Formats: sequence, C-alpha cells, structure tokens
Amino acid sequence: MKALVLAGGSGSRLRPITHTSAKQLVPVANKPVLFYGLEAIADAGIREVGIVVGDTAAEIRAAVGDGSSFGLTVTYLPQEAPLGLAHAVLVAREFLGEDDFVMYLGDNFIVGGITGLVERFRRERPDAQIMLTRVKDPRAFGVAEVDASGRVVGLEEKPERPKSDLALVGVYLFGPAVHAAVAGLKPSWRNELEITDAIQALIDDGARVESTVISGYWKDTGNVTDMLEVNRLVLEGLEPSVRGRVDEASELIGRVVVEEGAEVTGSRVVGPAIVGAGSVVRDSYIGPFTSIDRDCTVLDSEIEYSIVLRGASIDGVGRIEVSLIGREAAVTPAPRVPKAHRLVLGDHSAVQISG
Ligand code: G1P
Repeated sequence: MKALVLAGGSGSRLRPITHTSAKQLVPVANKPVLFYGLEAIADAGIREVGIVVGDTAAEIRAAVGDGSSFGLTVTYLPQEAPLGLAHAVLVAREFLGEDDFVMYLGDNFIVGGITGLVERFRRERPDAQIMLTRVKDPRAFGVAEVDASGRVVGLEEKPERPKSDLALVGVYLFGPAVHAAVAGLKPSWRNELEITDAIQALIDDGARVESTVISGYWKDTGNVTDMLEVNRLVLEGLEPSVRGRVDEASELIGRVVVEEGAEVTGSRVVGPAIVGAGSVVRDSYIGPFTSIDRDCTVLDSEIEYSIVLRGASIDGVGRIEVSLIGREAAVTPAPRVPKAHRLVLGDHSAVQISG
C-alpha cells in the first residue's frame, strides 16, 4: 500500500499565517501539522509516499526532504494548479499504479493516527473506505447521507442544505477502482475535480464503499479557536523534558518541555507547555496550553493558552491569552503618551484590544 499526501492549496482560511507559510506547515505543539500525518502513515506500516505539491513546493520539500527522517521514501508530485483532490489523484496516476493507497490531506489532524483504519482496509478490501465525523457546520465539508444501517447512500460537496452533520474527514482509503471513477469526473461548481464526486460515482456503480465515524478530528477552519484547541489536545500528551537552561529563580510546574538551547530565567512555566529551541523566556509567566516555537523571546510578559510561531518576540506587554502570534511578529508596549494603540498588521490579521 502507498500513501498520497496532499500538500498544495493556498490556505485561504488560515490567513494571515498562510500568507507566508504553507498551511500544512502550521505548527501544533511546535511541530508542523503535516508531520503528524507523515508519522501516522509510517506508524501504519506504509513506506512509499507521494506528496502532491503546488505553489509552496519549495517550503514543503525543505521541511520533509526525502522522507527518511520519518522512515518514508517520498516522491514529490507537482500539481500545476489547485484543481481539486481528484485532480491530485490524476497527477499521481503513474506513481500509484495499481496499488491500494491512503489519501491524506496534509492539513488534517487525526487524533490517534490511522493504523486501525489501514488494518481494517487491508482485512476487508473494499473499493473505498471513508471516515466521517460530526461537525457543527457541515456546509464547509463534504457531507455523507447514511442509512439506518450505517451504509453511505449519498455524498455531497459543501452542500447549502446538508442532509446530515457527518463530514468527510480528509483521509480516504482506495483500491485501484477509484481511477476509473476519477477519469469520468467533470469539474464541480468551484471548478475542481472533487474526490467526493468520485466516491459517489463508485457508490452509483455498486462498488463497495465502507465508512467509519470517528471523533478527535480537526481541520483548519480559519478559526484560531480550533487551532488552539488542537494545540491543547496535543500538549495534553506531552512528556516533560528539559534540554535547555532553566535558572534557579525559575519554576517549572507540571508537564513542561524546554528544548535544547532555550533559556528560562526568573520565570514560571505552568504546563502543559513547550518552550522551543533557542527561545528566551525571562521574567515572565508561561501558562498552560502554550506552545512557544523556536527562536522566540518572551520578556517581562505573561502568556497562556496561545501559540507563538518561530522568531516572534513579546516584550513587556502584560498578559496575553487565546492568541496566535505569527513568525517574527513583535509585540511591544506603546509609549504612554498619547494613550493609543500602534499597529502594523499584515493583510487579513485580526486583533482584539481590551480597554
Ligand atoms: C476537502 C474535501 C471535503 C472534505 C475536506 C476535509 O475540502 O473536498 O469533502 O470534507 O477536504 O478536510 P477542501 O479542503 O477542499 O475545502
């Protein structure tokens, strides 16, 4: 069995973070979301992976390399434009050959990995196996209609009037029958070749399409709340370790990771929390569910339930909560007079100011 990982797309829902970075590389607990997917694939015993890349190809290649650090062999498959998930299967046609494959959307996060699903597929060998999960707003997803016995009877991509709250999760297992279904597709209203339509075609042809309902699923909805929540979930499983320097005046409470080259002085860190490699935390408080990426500085400030990306600095600003701070961003106090906020915000930024 092979894996096809999709790492193209523009990430419009996660702006402004994705103006400068591929959405699949947005970190959760200081690790790109894509890496969790690659690890899950390796854990399921799959070795050969094709990664479909678009505009952000260089960045994805730089992060993943030849895949050997994951125990994988990676082939890059350039897609000239984001023309849909089924188009990615077309692009990968030669790479996939007649093998079974798992298709994994690189911006999806599945708690607990995919080993169980892959084992089930190998045992039962259906033509396709999909995963469904209950979501609040099914209109943002592919939606399945399921009969009383749990059999999928119909699928619709981003329906205006969803027939259920069961969304298609971005991990699909296919046998080679999917290729004929993909070859017969017409572009959808959003001008994409939809994998949802290919699965519908399989159902219409009487092919065997199995489904499982899962919980513990996350996808970038552009909603920072969701990112912070998945960051919390992953930090819940953190193994404490201190590889950086923590001085005597500092206190680490609970599950805290201080990565190599990080320096914590005169500060209190209450876990679960992670201070990335080369970051400096001085005279500050880092509260639970906070991920500070590498090469950040946090000075004379408090931060809790937040994600701080690489190279950001926070200096003398009191307390920050429920925030996502982008790469190389600088958060500093304004001069006291006149009392005003001074902002330099990237496109699509969102700021909430209290007081
Ligand atoms: C795609 C699929 C959709 C699925 C979703 C899961 O949506 O088209 O059916 O529910 O992934 O992540 P897109 O990311 O293209 O909006």
